[in-house]
Amino acid sequence: MVSYELTVYTGKEASAITVNSIYIKLVGTKGESDRKWLNILPIFWGSEVTYCVDCEHTLGQLILIEVDKRTWFLSDAWLPEKVEITTPEGDVYTFPVYCWISDSETHRFREGKALKIYEEENPLGLYARKQELLQRRKEYRWDEYDSRLPRTIKADGVGGLPDKNKFSWTKTIQFYITGFYGKIGNCLKKLTENRNNWKNLDEIHNVLSCRTSNLYDYIRQHWKEDDFFGYQYLNGINPILIRRCKTLPPNFPVTDDMVFFPEGLKLSNELGQGNIYLCDYKNLDGLPANTVLGKQQYLTAPLVLFHKRPDDKLMPIAIQLKQTPGEDNPIFLPTDSTHDWLTAKIFVRNADFTELQLNTHLLRTHLLAEAFAVSLQRNLPMVHPLYKLLIPHTRYTLQINTIGRGGLIGPTGLVALNAGSGGKATTQFMAKSMSDITYTSLCIPDDINERDMHDVPNYYYRDDGLKIWYTMYKFVQGVLEYYYKCDDDVLGDSELQTYIGDIFKNGFLSNTEGGFPQSFTTVTEMVKFVTMVMFTCSCQHAAVNNGMFDYAGWMPNLPPTMQCPPPTEKGTTTEATILATLPPVCVTAESKTTVWLLSRPPSDFVTLGHYPEDHFTEETPRQLQRKFKVELEVLTTDFKMRNMDMEIPYTYLIPNSVENSITI
Ligand code: FE2
Repeated sequence: MVSYELTVYTGKEASAITVNSIYIKLVGTKGESDRKWLNILPIFWGSEVTYCVDCEHTLGQLILIEVDKRTWFLSDAWLPEKVEITTPEGDVYTFPVYCWISDSETHRFREGKALKIYEEENPLGLYARKQELLQRRKEYRWDEYDSRLPRTIKADGVGGLPDKNKFSWTKTIQFYITGFYGKIGNCLKKLTENRNNWKNLDEIHNVLSCRTSNLYDYIRQHWKEDDFFGYQYLNGINPILIRRCKTLPPNFPVTDDMVFFPEGLKLSNELGQGNIYLCDYKNLDGLPANTVLGKQQYLTAPLVLFHKRPDDKLMPIAIQLKQTPGEDNPIFLPTDSTHDWLTAKIFVRNADFTELQLNTHLLRTHLLAEAFAVSLQRNLPMVHPLYKLLIPHTRYTLQINTIGRGGLIGPTGLVALNAGSGGKATTQFMAKSMSDITYTSLCIPDDINERDMHDVPNYYYRDDGLKIWYTMYKFVQGVLEYYYKCDDDVLGDSELQTYIGDIFKNGFLSNTEGGFPQSFTTVTEMVKFVTMVMFTCSCQHAAVNNGMFDYAGWMPNLPPTMQCPPPTEKGTTTEATILATLPPVCVTAESKTTVWLLSRPPSDFVTLGHYPEDHFTEETPRQLQRKFKVELEVLTTDFKMRNMDMEIPYTYLIPNSVENSITI
């Protein structure tokens, strides 16, 4: 008779307890144990409990464990984290679990050493691997929200999601309390029923006036200023639209004599010198604007020209609010009346609201991250090295997206009810944006080059983003090169090839023009793609999400809708026309409440580069994880030091404020 010592680790959240019976069986190369009943008493959250399993003879090398839970009188869900087993020979095996067990099925978990499919030597291991994927493909099925957008997970609401993708209780409670508290604040002031327009700009601050941030206050004071307007295209929450402009678009006929430059500079010369930049909201052209509170709203598709001045400030120098030039579409200039110029800038900021929320944020981070997560679950078993590397970067994404599809862009969602780009415009705009996405635009070093933004000064999104990208790339490269010694290892990994093929088909909709990989032929290709996935799910989302309250809390800086059409001639605007154009009180209240909710750091935040779940059990990847964490801590210190001297610190990519995954 020989004895195996098992230590079972249970998750730390309160609901991880089970009062039911847990059974476990050990399976090795030389046989298997009996199905052992572990517990008479409940297994508590955060516990580490050791048991003995006796066998008539040694089981050889351990391949997997089988775990099942028998419900006696109270149904519950148990969250085992991992099981450590010491064999009679003194070897220690670790079996990562990290998933909720709520049913009575038998669940198999592999030993922690990562294996690719062609490395499976034991038929039992191969069988378990295939069974796991068969089950996963039943749980994680593709669904079509709109045929022109990335496929989503098929789930009947949040309740239909697999258990392991749901929020923890602590996050659920915090999420709903935060939203409820915001709404209570508005209701007390009777704001949500007030359909009146604002009487003056200052009183807009009354909405949730207790909710503020340093940058919110700064923006409330500086939002009308041209240099701040320019600054936010580099370091605000939509820093990926602006590009260098060497030749003016034919539909934006700005001439030398229109624009006034200091020190005798001329537009034609400055174009050639590389000092002119452009934001073109062309995908907003021709969209059917929404109705809000029964009233027709208005969308514009502006073009904005910027000049990098000799003092390195980026200043807006011309704005055309519609794509087709003409007499009814004046080019607004800083030399126009104060109200004309401010009105033009407000319409641009409204266009940026749509571009930011629906493209930069929702489509390019949330929806792509969901496609990456679903493909990971469908195609890679837990024992696969890429599953172990990427699973921490998918945490809670499927649930927050499921909530967002109903609560934000669904027929009764906040965008549909309050934004000019709600209703039919939402999917039309997202479909246009989707057809514009390229692989280049998702990889920050390539994107910066493509937009020719490598040398514009004071572009902290670029500076910080590139530093993190290269640090992340090195980490991903280290881990993947440990498992894939040569390109043939990549070519021979059928599961890996199915994973990328599924993303190409269901995430990128088989778009052969976008430069997306359809398969991996080299280790280098795989490393770059995986870095892009990790960056999109962490840094890119943080850059465009975390400042939502800062930049959109003060509504006039990022108004969700415009109640009046854009001016068709100069000299027709006043403060009264601006107030009539901005959203009414109730829409402002909903908007500020929402961006406040979206900017709250979650209570169970997992910082970028922190891996509380031990999916890797081998020393090399674990050591690389520790190194990655240390390197991110160094960047955190560097960025904070740099920020100390800045009028507006750039904080969204400070690594210790970036989450590992998209959770909000
Ligand atoms: Fe988000």
